Amino acid sequence: MNVKPITAKFVAEIEDIDVRSISGDEFNELHRAWLEYGVLRLRNQPLDEDELQTFSANFGPLEEIPLGRLPEVVRRKIKNRFVTQLSNIVVDGKPIGGLGNAEASWHSDMTYVETPPPASVLLGVEIPETGGDTYFADQNAAYEALPDDLRARVAGLTIKHDAAHTSIGSLRPGFEPFDDPREAPGAVHPIVITHPETGQKTLYLGRREWAYVPGMTLADSEALLDALWAYAARPENVWRQVWQPGDLIIWDNRRVLHRRDDFDQNARRLMKRCQVLSREAITG
Ligand code: OGA
Ligand code: MN
Repeated sequence: MNVKPITAKFVAEIEDIDVRSISGDEFNELHRAWLEYGVLRLRNQPLDEDELQTFSANFGPLEEIPLGRLPEVVRRKIKNRFVTQLSNIVVDGKPIGGLGNAEASWHSDMTYVETPPPASVLLGVEIPETGGDTYFADQNAAYEALPDDLRARVAGLTIKHDAAHTSIGSLRPGFEPFDDPREAPGAVHPIVITHPETGQKTLYLGRREWAYVPGMTLADSEALLDALWAYAARPENVWRQVWQPGDLIIWDNRRVLHRRDDFDQNARRLMKRCQVLSREAITG
């Protein structure tokens, strides 16, 4: 197994490994690389759902997909309750996965719960000719780029992370619409967190839409969030993944943001994802 950094500190390509037959020692090396780089890409891993689940479970117990929220027709077709599909493909009039073909804005996954997943494992299955690229932004670097006065201002402050909307901006089933971020339901986390495994300070913004800094006026909260987001995804800290079928990306959801380009609805895109259950609360 070969760990090939794509930049000095962020994103590595893992070569010469078939994750279907990964040994304990190899997994430990991969896990160390994941903590060091935040994002790993492994090409040519054409896993089925059981293989994706088995490999992902090396990182810890997995999140079950929220079956209750899915339409019955989709629920009946689910083969594996730990694998989520993201897709624009429509079968019998129903999408077979989440997010459709829309652009997904910068976010990390499920930060609106108290203990968000530490790792996400995303497999490219069917990939359009163009569009649907996924981008990752290093939030250790974003924290380091903050000017001293901004860093001092956010020490001890928190953000409330909106649970009601998806990363394409649509309302999740079971939530009522609102038009004031102060009313958004969701977990509150420190703006700067200490990574539980690396000890590094990381900017932890979740997503811009419907975020709110508790204790502030709405105008002050909006201004502070805008100031922080100006540092979140600077081009020098962003890496773009152009997918091939069989690409497997593992990211540290505590340390990186991701976003996705939209793509042509006439093209087919199918991704499969496992998320690891958190064992640790997010702390400042
Ligand atoms: C995700 C996600 C983007 C993509 O899996 O959490 O946001 O490229 N995916 O489909
Ligand atoms: Mn996501």
